[in-house]
Amino acid sequence: MVAGQQSWSTQTVAGSELVPGVLLLRYRRHSGGEDQARATFVASKATKATAGATSAAVKRRRQLERGQMTRPESMAFEMSNKNKELMNDIFTNCKLKNGFGPSVQATAAATSPTKRPLSPDHPNPALPITETPSPAMNRMGWALRTLLVADSSSCLKDRKVSGKLIRKCAPGTELVDWLVNLSPIVHTRAQAAGMWQALLEEGVLAHVNKEQPFKDKCFLYRFRLDEEGGTAAAGVPQAEDLGAANEHIREALSALFQRGPDATLRMILRKPSHERTSEELELVFEELVHIAALSHLSTSIKRELSSIFVFEAHAQAGTILFNQGDEGRSWYILLKGSVDVVIHGKGTVATLKTGDDFGKLALINDAPRAATIVLKENNCHLLRVDKEHFNRILRDVEANTLRLQEHGKDVLVLERVAKQRGQHSAFKYTVMSGTPAKMLEHLLETRLGQSVGGLDPFLDDFLLTHIVFMPVVQLVDELANYFHCDAHEDAQTAEDREYIINFKKRVIQFMQKWVMAVRHAAFEEPSVCDFIEDLAAEVEADPDLNEETSIVHNVLTQMARYQEDRNQNAGQKWKLPPNGQPICLFSGNATPSKTVIRPDDDIIFRVYCADHTYCTLRFPMHTTAELIKACAADKLQLNRGPEDLVLVEVKSNGERSVFKDNDVSIPTGLSLNGRLFVSVKDHLDALTQLQEQECPTEGVDIDLEILSTKELAYHITLFEWDLFWAVHEYELLYHTFGRHHFGKITANLDVFLRRFNEVQYWIVTELVSTPSLSKRVGLVRKFIKLAAYCKEYQNLNAFFAVVMGLSNMAVSRLQQTWEKIPSKFRKIFQEFEALIDPSRNHRAYRVFVGKLQPPLIPFMPLLLKDMTFAHEGNKTSLDGLVNFEKMHMMAQTMRTIRFCRSRSLGLEPPSPKSEGEVRSYISSFRVIDNQRVLTAMSQKVEPTRKL
Ligand code: CMP
Repeated sequence: MVAGQQSWSTQTVAGSELVPGVLLLRYRRHSGGEDQARATFVASKATKATAGATSAAVKRRRQLERGQMTRPESMAFEMSNKNKELMNDIFTNCKLKNGFGPSVQATAAATSPTKRPLSPDHPNPALPITETPSPAMNRMGWALRTLLVADSSSCLKDRKVSGKLIRKCAPGTELVDWLVNLSPIVHTRAQAAGMWQALLEEGVLAHVNKEQPFKDKCFLYRFRLDEEGGTAAAGVPQAEDLGAANEHIREALSALFQRGPDATLRMILRKPSHERTSEELELVFEELVHIAALSHLSTSIKRELSSIFVFEAHAQAGTILFNQGDEGRSWYILLKGSVDVVIHGKGTVATLKTGDDFGKLALINDAPRAATIVLKENNCHLLRVDKEHFNRILRDVEANTLRLQEHGKDVLVLERVAKQRGQHSAFKYTVMSGTPAKMLEHLLETRLGQSVGGLDPFLDDFLLTHIVFMPVVQLVDELANYFHCDAHEDAQTAEDREYIINFKKRVIQFMQKWVMAVRHAAFEEPSVCDFIEDLAAEVEADPDLNEETSIVHNVLTQMARYQEDRNQNAGQKWKLPPNGQPICLFSGNATPSKTVIRPDDDIIFRVYCADHTYCTLRFPMHTTAELIKACAADKLQLNRGPEDLVLVEVKSNGERSVFKDNDVSIPTGLSLNGRLFVSVKDHLDALTQLQEQECPTEGVDIDLEILSTKELAYHITLFEWDLFWAVHEYELLYHTFGRHHFGKITANLDVFLRRFNEVQYWIVTELVSTPSLSKRVGLVRKFIKLAAYCKEYQNLNAFFAVVMGLSNMAVSRLQQTWEKIPSKFRKIFQEFEALIDPSRNHRAYRVFVGKLQPPLIPFMPLLLKDMTFAHEGNKTSLDGLVNFEKMHMMAQTMRTIRFCRSRSLGLEPPSPKSEGEVRSYISSFRVIDNQRVLTAMSQKVEPTRKL
């Protein structure tokens, strides 16, 4: 074997074809000479076990060294004509500059490039890019050699170099001379050199030491035929062969003439950047202008890229360029051929073609490779930019949007966004839209597994909003499939096992973060509990998952605590008393604090019919309107079919609102003094409100004057904190999208929102039902102080309610009262009004609240408004993909709630006295919520002055 010759091969196992499913890679390294990989790629048919199951997934973690190559049928790098001319000039100039160099040995010693292995990682322009020459090139080479040998004055001679005989070799310069003389179409030495390089890159011709590409210099080259020896190489050609060669040569020369410039360009792109001359860089630059994947880049960036792009050629279909889960090291543009994008458990999801690029996702996000890239055909050509150069030149200018496709359809759309401060690079991709399954895959592949502190925003958004686009059962199913990705794989190598274990760890991490993000909501789903238990059993049984046992135990403990709490509170009952307050929480009953209303808690409530007779019903919270309607109709003996009946709320002002049959948590959803009616559809107009709806509801009778205002604010805040604490972030989603979509109750949110109205109307009711002017003045002062204390306690919900109550038309018109309010109080009140000013999207409040630290109770109606705006202003689905930007917007609002409650409320009681009295007073205010009635009462206490 000639010194420096490589021993390598890349094989595709016969008959193998990439199919979705199992990809088994086997490779071994050849020792001796350069460290070369011999790769055998086996693709065996997938066994998809169950629908949606992760079929024995691809799990090989091997970095195959890229093998080399067989025959390119056509040239990938088709140079523009202009460049072909330029190329000729370059070579002419090179020749002039270089002249005829010293002897082969001397040159080799002086300038011998360090030997590079035959790996596309470090391509060597002296070596062929194909495994064996194509028949066409072989024939061209044969014809040229035949004519050369037949020529008695030929340069092709046996020569002794360093005492060693090298048969039939010739210096590059003489080969160029000969070719220029042979054909009138070859005008320049550069053209001739390019033609010889075209033969060299297919292995028809080679430098004797395999150290040089073709150069118009004194380096010695010889034909492959002469390297191999044998009969074909021996002696003078027969007349018959000579005739055939002569006949073929014209066609051969013209084909070679075409290929020369492209071969030269490929040769330049395989040289290390410091060996590329400025003329060569100019030539590469001119070619980059024609590549679509670079069209968005500026000229200066393309110039920089000219020196760092590397040309890679791969001979064998089935060669793996890199594996899913690998570290991202390069970005690629496909110049020729096609590659399959293969994903564990899915198989081939996309095929990328000439001109497509891939591999920047991992580079930009510093994440593992999201897919395995497998060559689909023989002789693929690629341009490669390695990570360090990519980061330096491209990272910050890369295209803003990245669309990933599977089976011809977009599955994930990512957009480049500025990274948060503290992260080590400036930009990364964030998900804009995607299919639910692909987003989950992206999460598991790229956002978990690294020891990152805190909750990744994408993961958090996903966990907070997935119920909108991926029901819990589906999510659990997908996770179980990922966790059991090894279920159908028998033989596993250590590397396979490592990959599988890593993936299992990610699923466990996901579970942990899920529970962290949504707390008890996760445990409310039986499918989640079953999954956690299965997971725990498997983790216990698997020694490789030892480190994960503590995570799983922690989750199990939380689950047990939840279940215990649930059992203790099983059969929890609520009451909707006839006079105002919908549930016992507000009726002064000794309910334990921080009680969450659960879907299967019972609630006792009345349902009226048109003649104001009623029945009392007891149903779980999650009971549908349809069932309540049927039961009430039966009890009230309406004798009509359910299709003729409706369940309807009649508000205290007589307004009616009909419930959908599939609506749930009906009683808690009523307005303050609203009543539930069952009515014949056609008789809706006959429904009138009850007399009691217009009167102040019953409550604790107390002389407000004697209560300490700070005490009031303190107890209001404690009370509302408990209500706020019980609201789950998901209830905001149910409320915004409509709880009937989810079949989930929003009772805790309903109660909290009612509370806002209750406080607001309590202020108005108290003021308009106080006939004494001096008492009213005292009350207004008290309420302004109350607002100030609520603000101090960071109970913004009550602060808004009190200030809005004082700004209610029935109160603001009380001129005589306001005239007597000291200006100091009026000024404070004006400041408060400025704070609740809704203009510029509640800017004043947002700025104020933005500076507060938790714990705080936010102004809930504004959060709901933000949710509604996000919902109504943005489609949930965009071209069949989940609009994740919308989910992100909603999650931001939901996170606000989490932030507000991230520290527990530890208020100092203003005084130790009157605890019980004030608490029962503030939990059951006397309220009129009919504006007409309130205005009339206001008129009564302070009739409008006649001018
Ligand atoms: P990266 O994750 O760096 O490496 C694998 C590449 O495959 C990925 O970047 C994308 O450029 C490309 N790719 C194309 N289609 C998909 C797809 N549907 N899912 C994941 N990766 C894909």
